[in-house]
Amino acid sequence: MVYPIYLIGYMGAGKTTVGRILADRLGWHFVDLDEAFHEIHGLSPADYIRTYGVEAFRRKEKYVLEDLAELPIEKVVYATGGGYPCWEDNMECLKELGTSFYLRWQPHYLAQRLALTDLSERPLLHGKNAEEILDVIMPQLEARAPFYEQADYILDAPVGDNLDGSEDEQLAQQLYELIHEHN
Ligand code: S3P
Repeated sequence: MVYPIYLIGYMGAGKTTVGRILADRLGWHFVDLDEAFHEIHGLSPADYIRTYGVEAFRRKEKYVLEDLAELPIEKVVYATGGGYPCWEDNMECLKELGTSFYLRWQPHYLAQRLALTDLSERPLLHGKNAEEILDVIMPQLEARAPFYEQADYILDAPVGDNLDGSEDEQLAQQLYELIHEHN
């Protein structure tokens, strides 16, 4: 398996939480690309989009990821921003740079998870309940799925009849085993 590891998926898929657990377990570095963006550009992705628009954000986001990839450190788990893989040739870049994993969830679970988070940094979803969130995210998720599904590996979130809060931990464990198996 080629390093680094890139976790991709829609907002609420657990890229940051799963990535942190995984990196910790592997003894690797963890980088959240939204946080790296904030540090480099002085604005969170949401504020940057509000101020300069989504096109400008995507261009900068692309360079943040590609610049970090030039660091001579391979043992890194990156959590990418949810829209990153769906812009220009970004998915091809990811596949050249390392190994990508799509954390795939059924949309209604993403909506439930997002409804439990602080939505102030997500202007389109702010103030909405899980049902309303689902209406907003369904069409976008459908449009993004063909990009996400180009990942080297697809991991389906291990959900029973309902969310029970152990899903991120289980996803991290699945990833850990997969990475071990291929090395
Ligand atoms: C975005 C997702 C965000 C962030 C930005 C845009 C998107 O990242 O990059 O607000 O278009 O889905 P997370 O997926 O980490 O929330």
